[in-house]
Order: sequence, then structure tokens, then C-alpha cells
Amino acid sequence: MAVDVLLGLQWGDEGKGKIVDVLAPQYDIIARFQGGPNAGHTLIFDGKKFVLHTVPSGIFRAGLKNLIGNGVVIDPITLSKELDQLDAAGVDYAGRLFVARKAHLILPTHRLLDAARENAKGDRKIGSTLKGIGPTYMDKTGRNGLRVGNVEAPDFRERYERLKQKHLDLVGLYPYIEFDLAGEEEKWFKAVERLQSLPFVDGEFWINQAIDAGEKILAEGAQGSMLDIDFGTYPFVTSSNTITAGVCTGLGIAPQKVGEVIGITKAYCTRVGGGPFPTELHDEVGEFIRKEGGEFGATTGRPRRCGWIDLVQLRYTIMLSGVTQLVVTKVDVLNKFETLKAADAYRVEGELSHELPFDLCHENYEAVYTEVPGWNTNLTSVKEEANLPQACLDYVAFLEEKLGTRVSMVSTGPDREELVMR
Ligand code: GDP
Ligand code: IMO
Ligand code: MG
Repeated sequence: MAVDVLLGLQWGDEGKGKIVDVLAPQYDIIARFQGGPNAGHTLIFDGKKFVLHTVPSGIFRAGLKNLIGNGVVIDPITLSKELDQLDAAGVDYAGRLFVARKAHLILPTHRLLDAARENAKGDRKIGSTLKGIGPTYMDKTGRNGLRVGNVEAPDFRERYERLKQKHLDLVGLYPYIEFDLAGEEEKWFKAVERLQSLPFVDGEFWINQAIDAGEKILAEGAQGSMLDIDFGTYPFVTSSNTITAGVCTGLGIAPQKVGEVIGITKAYCTRVGGGPFPTELHDEVGEFIRKEGGEFGATTGRPRRCGWIDLVQLRYTIMLSGVTQLVVTKVDVLNKFETLKAADAYRVEGELSHELPFDLCHENYEAVYTEVPGWNTNLTSVKEEANLPQACLDYVAFLEEKLGTRVSMVSTGPDREELVMR
């Protein structure tokens, strides 16, 4: 069986958690392949709301297995809090939540370093979630990291102390910031014990055996394609490959094992943190979308920047990931517009271009918009395609034509049930 992939095509928060939860019953395994607790995936059903950071979004579906893959970076403290949340909700995850031994651990001092470095950057800061993501991936590629499998070894404490000391030496290069290291360490070691209560697996063997046994797998992306370390708006990106290519290295599967690639986009666009955002609205329209869409970060609570959908950007990320079908979320947020705008080209140095320029941070460019009619109707909670207003169907058809990819789902509200399958 192939491994299907679901990932965000913009700057994150496209509604990945919701859609994974909806699709999960069609699969045997849901696997996270990159990122860490910088992710905040919201799931709403039966009047309850859950936000997951490390745990895959298939956990609420009984009987389903969930894997935290080797490409993920894990903060045991955050994971432990997520398990508390599941316990409180009576979710039985025993024997259903697996952790790859090769996943790297986020230490308290990774978070300290993240904070110290961001603080020192002043107005050039990335707007990191400060979860220690950058420093942990740096230690991974720098070949210093600690992995989940290491916690079982007798020299774990020693290795921890060595890495911590290296971090403390580095922190000394930056202006002082407040951090209760002793308190955080105490919580961390307790949380490591909790982590050890979950089954550790050699993820690459585990998943390939599942593939050979005919099990159906969905790989759940975190962040968005424009935050990809290679192809995003560098340096305003995260530290992992968020595109389909990341599934292979983040789970240990070969490229020919990848099946459907489901790309998610909002009906508009948002970004949280610093960095270029060509279609950002700095006016009352942007403010209106933020309010209607409840656009505040699921992990940090920060207000998200809002703007129109960017087709140039989407064509780029669809190309990078080989997207085979699209999901358009949050169409209900645009209920009250007479007309909508979509960037279909950029003017770069005066010339019209349909490709993203090399460096969105510095190039001289502007988005060129096409206007389309809005539906100006309340379509919140619509579940049947036949009940979508014609202008909304036309908007979907417009996206399909401009993006050369079919739209298989339209999301009309945050709840699991609020979805049109096409
Ligand atoms: P993720 O990181 O991609 O999983 O997305 P987040 O959970 O960070 O952000 C998406 C937000 O939009 C959450 O608050 C969801 O509950 C909400 N949401 C998802 N789909 C829809 C939708 O179709 N309409 C509305 N109004 N909200 C949605
Ligand atoms: P989900 O999975 C939106 C952004 C941060 C910052 C940049 C780098 O919920 O879509 P990092 O903490 O990785 O060092 O931050 O990336 N960012 C996200 N934005 N959704 C996310 O995840 C994000 N994860 C990181 O705001 O600009
Ligand atoms: Mg999110």
C-alpha cells in the first residue's frame, strides 16, 4: 500500500489537523514526519476542542495507530501535557501511539537558546514559536543531538549533561534572558519517564513492514510549504522540510511508496511570525478576516497576519510536493464579501511574472490581482455540494483552473462534520 501525504501549502495553520481527523478512518496509521511542538493542530468534534502539537491527529479515532516519526523533534514536556489532555478526555492511546527511536529530543536548553537568539536579533527576528525547534535541528545536522532511543542507554544522563553544557557555553554569547533551568530540567526528566511509557519503535522498519502488510498510511505534515527550510521564504522559515520530500526522510520510506498528495489551502492566506507575505492586507479587510476566521495562533496565541489567496505561491508549492488533490478550508470566513481577490501574477522589476522571485525578502515585486465575485451568503456548516451557492462553486472552479489540480474537499466550519466531499 502507498503512503498518502497531507500537507499545508501556505505558511501553516491551513486546517491540517481537522482534515487528518476527518480522513483518519480511511487509514490504519497516521504518522507525523517532521516539525515538533511549533505545530498546533486543532480538532473540533462533539462540542469539544483539542489542540495537538506532537501527537498525530488520528489519535481520537479508536483502533488507529499513530506514529511520531524520526523526522519529528520531541519535547517530552509538551508531549506529556498532550498525554494529560488525552487522559482527561478518556482517550485510550495505550498501544496505539508509537515513537520512532531516531526522533531527536528537544532539551530545555534548546528552548533557552532559541529564546536567547531570537531576543538578540531584535527587529530581524524570525518570530519563532520559541519551542527550541531551530537549535534542536541544528544539533541534529551538527551531529550532536540526543535521540529518543538514547534514553534507554546507561550513559544518557552523561550525554545530556555534555549537550547542556555546550548550550550554556553558547548562551553566554547572547544577552542574558530569564530562564528557570533547574525547574525546567526537573519537569523534563519526569516527562522523559512518561515518554518511556510509550512503545519505542525502529520507525523505518515498523512503517515499511506496515506497508508490506497492506496497511494504509497517512503522513501528516506540520507547518506549511512556504516555511520549508529549502524552498520557503528563507530565513523566515522553520528548520525542517515541510514538503512531500520530507516524508521520505522523516519516516524512512522510498519515494515510490508515496501515493496521493493532499495539499491544503485556506480560501485566503495567513502567516504568523515575521517574513514576507506578498498578499498581506494591512487594512480593515485584513482585520475583518482575522476576526471572522479567529486567526490567532493555536500554539502561541499570536494574531495571524491575513491576506488574499496567492495563486503564484500555491502553484509553486503544488509543484514542489506533487500535489494530486486540493482541500480548500475556511470558505465560510469569506461569507460576507461582494468580491474576492486572488494574486495570479507578480510584477517583478516592472515585468509580469508567474513564478516566485528568488528572494521574496528583497526583490522589488508586487502582487497582481484578479477579482472574482464573492457569494455574500452564510454557508457555514454546509455539508452538501448542492447547497453551496453558485458563486462559491465558481470560486472553487476558478481555483481548480488556475492551480491545475482538482479540489476534493471544501471545509465550511471548524467542526469535523462541517465539510463538503466532492
Ligand atoms: P493546522 O495547524 O493546519 O492544523 O491549523 P490550526 O488548527 O492551527 O488552525 C486552523 C484553525 O481554523 C483552527 O482554529 C480550526 O479549528 C479552524 N478551522 C479549520 N477549518 C475551518 C473551516 O473550514 N472554517 C472555519 N471557520 N474554521 C476552520
Ligand atoms: P502548524 O503545524 C504557522 C512559524 C513561526 C515562525 C517560523 C519559525 O500549526 O501549521 P519555529 O518555531 O519553527 O522556529 O518558527 O515558523 N511556524 C508556524 N506558523 N503554523 C505552524 O505550524 C508553525 N510552525 C512554525 O511562527 O514564523
Ligand atoms: Mg496550526
